[in-house]
Amino acid sequence: MALPEMVFDAEEIRLKRIVDHTALLGYEEAGFVCGKIDQVYGPLAFRKKPEGRPLVYASYVMSVDGKIAFMDNEVGPLIAQNNYLDPNGALADFWILNMLRGQSDGIIIGSGTLIKEPNYSGSAYDRDILDARRAAGKPLAPWTVIVTRSGQNIPFHNPVFQCEEVPFLIATSPVGYQSLIKDLPKDHVLLPVCQNEDDQETIRRVIRNCPDKIAVFVSGNEDEPDSSALMKVLDAMGMEKVLVESPAYCHHLMQKKLLHEIFINTSCVFVGGQATGIGSSETPFLSTDHPHCDIVSIHLHQTNFLYTRYCFRYDVMP
Ligand SMILES: NC(=O)c1ccc[n+]([C@@H]2O[C@H](COP(=O)([O-])OP(=O)(O)OC[C@H]3O[C@@H](n4cnc5c(N)ncnc54)[C@H](OP(=O)(O)O)[C@@H]3O)[C@@H](O)[C@H]2O)c1
Repeated sequence: MALPEMVFDAEEIRLKRIVDHTALLGYEEAGFVCGKIDQVYGPLAFRKKPEGRPLVYASYVMSVDGKIAFMDNEVGPLIAQNNYLDPNGALADFWILNMLRGQSDGIIIGSGTLIKEPNYSGSAYDRDILDARRAAGKPLAPWTVIVTRSGQNIPFHNPVFQCEEVPFLIATSPVGYQSLIKDLPKDHVLLPVCQNEDDQETIRRVIRNCPDKIAVFVSGNEDEPDSSALMKVLDAMGMEKVLVESPAYCHHLMQKKLLHEIFINTSCVFVGGQATGIGSSETPFLSTDHPHCDIVSIHLHQTNFLYTRYCFRYDVMP
């Protein structure tokens, strides 16, 4: 299956930048050159990549009360698409995800989203962004990185596994690996833990030599994989920027202080009840110890969508 492409009309989705703290916060690394991004979003800059791991940012659309899916239909993007007041604001939400996917070398996703979004295909679709990505020398699609503790219930029939252009890596625990190998739809190759330059070279060689196999990384103890070890492997694979689309893993990365930024698009609809939020199945942070954020930028579309970007600050004490 070939990757789908879409045309987005820049005028319809053009955003109004109302706050810009990028210079103040030291964002000096430009993403790749793309006229469409300048037109719709304005300049997109990043902080320097940290040593030994990628720059990691997450992106979600949520209701004004922080829910990322309705309860009666849990397909996350409906939070934007079913904002009937501003269809182009919803398109702009999807386009921002395209922009971030396009800039990324890897996208982290969990089975929860793959199961509830059967059409998930995790790639950039905007033709202008794809052209700019190719011109910057990047492969057409970023790696899809599936995180799983249990190694079970990964929907391998999902479209993301059917696109030849999308390479994928499954990161799991030792217990998860025992389940995973029973379900894998084709041969796999194991990546080693990355502790030194020799390991980095081995990882790159294994990836180069086995393009048709599923890459699998096993780390941690029992059923708990080691996310810090995964970041080192992604770095060794050459990933400079990684987008996190898994809500549960996003929460986990904040617990491990490994998430640098989050892009939150607010669709001005209200969901209420016990609907899913980011990390709603995880252990919450304490009133005395929780991540803080600085506001990086805020954009608007009409009076119905707000697009915020935050960078995290950990270890902030009273
Ligand atoms: N509005 C939005 O922007 C947006 C974006 C994405 C998703 N969503 C919605 O959010 C819902 C899914 O949320 P979710 O949090 O359940 O799904 P998820 O994060 O995509 O997947 C959860 C799964 O990820 C794996 N996982 C979680 N933490 C892990 C860790 N520390 N290490 C390894 N694996 C880990 C586990 O897999 P195993 O069970 O295999 O161990 C877990 O069951 C869906 O309704 C989806 O549509 C909304």
